[in-house]
Amino acid sequence: MTKYVIQGGKPLYGEINISGAKNAAVAIIPAALLVDGVCRIENIPQISDVTSILNILQDLGADVRTVNRTTVDVDCSHIRNAKVPEELARKIRASYYLIGALLGRFGSAEVPPPGGCDFGGRPIDQHIKGFVAMGADVDVHGGYIHAKAKTGRMIGTQVYLDMVSVGATMNIILAATLADGMTVIENAAKEPHIVDLANFLNSMGADIMGAGTDVIKVRGVERLTGGSYSIIPDQIEAGTYMTAVAAAGGEVLIRNVIPKHLECITAKLLEMGVEVEERDDAVLVRRHGPLSRTNVKTLPYPGFPTDMQPQIAAVLCLAQGTSVLTEGVWDNRYRYVDEFRRMGAQIQVDGKVAVIEGASHLSGAKLQACDLRAGAAMVIAALAGQGTSEVSCVHHIERGYEDIVRKLSNVGADIRVVVAPGEDRQAKIG
Ligand code: EPZ
Repeated sequence: MTKYVIQGGKPLYGEINISGAKNAAVAIIPAALLVDGVCRIENIPQISDVTSILNILQDLGADVRTVNRTTVDVDCSHIRNAKVPEELARKIRASYYLIGALLGRFGSAEVPPPGGCDFGGRPIDQHIKGFVAMGADVDVHGGYIHAKAKTGRMIGTQVYLDMVSVGATMNIILAATLADGMTVIENAAKEPHIVDLANFLNSMGADIMGAGTDVIKVRGVERLTGGSYSIIPDQIEAGTYMTAVAAAGGEVLIRNVIPKHLECITAKLLEMGVEVEERDDAVLVRRHGPLSRTNVKTLPYPGFPTDMQPQIAAVLCLAQGTSVLTEGVWDNRYRYVDEFRRMGAQIQVDGKVAVIEGASHLSGAKLQACDLRAGAAMVIAALAGQGTSEVSCVHHIERGYEDIVRKLSNVGADIRVVVAPGEDRQAKIG
């Protein structure tokens, strides 16, 4: 099995460039299904989740051309097929965006239930509630979600989300863009990638207002036409490297970011004694002294992101004193804790709360990544730990982090990949 071998204890110095946002890319690429013409999508991250979603579009009949390392042209004008193949869809969570996009385009969709990281239950009832309110019949049989607009076209309506859901907000936007009339989404999620999806669609001719607030209004239009769009930088990738510097020490300029999107992470690092200086499109992160304890609760944006919870836990493991970490989004996102304990971390978990007793140091160990962000957190703990660590199951990490080994090596980390015999690691975006 391919693994990362990390010699810990080296502070990080230099610059890291942040790639395009995974969770924006995996929604914007399916959104190209709604467009009549060629969409040029720039700043696409080179990660396996993106490869998977592009493979699905190609399988449906889209013309996908790689322009350069981070840019693709996607033309979905000639697609006639609304059935997504099971083996491709199960690889990623974001395959659920194909339901909204195909419903919007064809008035019907057949999509297998999504895959992705396992955090306990990951229901999509709010997505379905939205589609049904907009006039679709939705049922699950034969291993597929079958959705069909009763009149052949989605109909604008009011949808109140029972909980703040990123996926449901984006999926309803996708279904509403070409609908008949106005859709109003209340209690919508406000994450930066929701604004990015709306900006992408608006740049192609959609009429979406209020993205980034909790009420989003989508006035259905007859047609979207092609254009070009650049995806925002990845808030979570940037946050992950910020916490890597906090844990390992050193000074790193993290470039190509939107500092505003990082404020929820910056605030916690400042509380812990990490220095963070905001520049126009970069943040400088510096840590030389000891780390102080703090409490963190994950919440929908603009709260502290759940996708940064394992990474901040790695830092808290090294802080002086007792910290309380509360997971406010997912039922079960502490599966990584046993791996941290192998390194000497002292963590007690009770339901959604983890109490972390800071240790003077962590020591190298053999670790197994159990999901994307937990895997990244294990890399961070290993960078800060004393001695050698091995992180296996790195395919989880490479679903969402472009070139993590190279980016960390460039700032002085002692990290190398040991490739399993016969594994092909040449993932490309197109
Ligand atoms: C997105 O997942 C992200 N994935 C996740 O990032 C992220 O953790 C999550 O948003 C929260 O920020 C993608 O964008 C592909 P939700 P999503 O719907 O949309 C409950 C990563 O590491 N809920 O906002 O699936 C749900 O159980 C990944 O990059 C319902 O009950 O998350 C959860 O408790 C992991 N019914 C909460 O809402 C629903 O219909 C938030 O889920 C939908 C959600």
